[in-house]
Amino acid sequence: MARVTLLPIVAVAVSMVRAQSGTTTSLEPLASKHFTWPNIPYQVTGDEGGIRGPQFGYNLCNSTTENQQSLCQTSFLNSLDDFCMWSSSQTDDTIGESEAREVAWCTKPGHGTRVLPPGTLQGAQFLYAKNYLQVVGFLDQTKVGLDPTDEGGELDPHGADEQGNPLGGIVFTNGFGQNSASYQSQFKAGGNGSQTFTQVIEWIDFIGGGIFCLKMCNPSDPNAAELCQHVYDEIGCNWNALADYGSINGTFSVCDSDDMTPPGVFTAPNGQLTTWFQPLNGPITTIPYTTTIPSSSNCVTYQSTDLYAAAASAFPTTTSGSSTATTTSGASSSTGTAKSGSSSSGATSRTGSSTSSQPTNTSSSGALSINSAPLAVGALTGLALIMSIFA
Ligand SMILES: *[C@@H]1O[C@H](CO)[C@@H](O)[C@H](O)[C@H]1NC(C)=O
Ligand SMILES: *[C@@H]1O[C@H](CO)[C@@H](O)[C@H](O)[C@H]1NC(C)=O
Ligand SMILES: *[C@@H]1O[C@H](CO)[C@@H](O)[C@H](O)[C@H]1NC(C)=O
Ligand SMILES: *[C@@H]1O[C@H](CO)[C@@H](O)[C@H](O)[C@H]1NC(C)=O
Repeated sequence: MARVTLLPIVAVAVSMVRAQSGTTTSLEPLASKHFTWPNIPYQVTGDEGGIRGPQFGYNLCNSTTENQQSLCQTSFLNSLDDFCMWSSSQTDDTIGESEAREVAWCTKPGHGTRVLPPGTLQGAQFLYAKNYLQVVGFLDQTKVGLDPTDEGGELDPHGADEQGNPLGGIVFTNGFGQNSASYQSQFKAGGNGSQTFTQVIEWIDFIGGGIFCLKMCNPSDPNAAELCQHVYDEIGCNWNALADYGSINGTFSVCDSDDMTPPGVFTAPNGQLTTWFQPLNGPITTIPYTTTIPSSSNCVTYQSTDLYAAAASAFPTTTSGSSTATTTSGASSSTGTAKSGSSSSGATSRTGSSTSSQPTNTSSSGALSINSAPLAVGALTGLALIMSIFA
């Protein structure tokens, strides 16, 4: 039953961007280039990008590069109020066309990058997992240079030629060692956290179809490469960055979380731990497992107008803040981009966010908590919704 529901949707996913095939080179892989903050070169890749080079932008970013024409390719994922995503520097672009030349778009000024215009983010959830930081959410992708119909794809520090997408893109964080409670204290105090940043070596970044998911794996975890596997680029956020997507649009929250099972790894019916790999070529006809969203706790809800006030003040002509969650309106219905006739995942309940400007703790039995049981057909419909939107 579930399989029948899943099949056509998975087939649709094939339209997602595949990593470009490239020639083998002897260039040093991007993921092998390690930097200690703040010792960042002007360009990490420069002219050494192989056939897809040279590097489009630069990595040494500061107040002189901080504007909406910035070509900064140094990204951060610090917290719910302070993270960046890769997207195009142009307009009406696609991730497929622009993957090698993405630039950083950040939630606040201070990183020498472009800033996400107010109203870009429509909902987001930041998870402090044991061995990774993850932020997923919903966005108006036209505000980050993308065509509204672009179904998007994956960016990561690998690619067939190991030079990364974007070429030369590097990522830092001060978020490892934090959790939902320490972030809440920091946020209440108006702080930005430590100004010592750690380079994230293994990360994934999907954007398109009105959603995004960013996962940064802790470089001190020996399983970082497995948890941030980059070979599942066709199957989207729902298999790569597990979260309760059906409850997130219109809300902004931070939780602690267990780690997800690495993408592709599942327990087969015979009880054996098995790894499924996305086929290298051709259509994906089936994914032989369903996912289980990891257990989360200590969820706190925030108001986007508080989280992104610095971005709003960077756009003085835009007086309205970014969208604010108000009341429970059910999960959004499927958009015109859904190709498989999937229905709304309206079953998702949502804790109404308060109008207080203080963060609100939600109980662990709230909308953001888990489902540790295998996905039921109803849950799969929600999953299918996101999948079809993204595909
Ligand atoms: C600021 O960044 C630009 C562009 O990367 C660079 O040319 C300049 O040297 C930087 N300034 C400082 C003070 O680091
Ligand atoms: C945090 O960073 C913002 C810019 O992003 C800056 O305006 C603010 O002063 C910083 N706050 C602290 C406490 O450093
Ligand atoms: C809410 O969060 C604060 C700060 O993390 C914590 O001290 C408090 O115990 C939490 N309250 C509940 C009800 O979880
Ligand atoms: C998220 O919510 C916004 C505002 O309601 C809506 O316009 C958008 O289509 C939703 N995104 C998705 C992918 O459902």
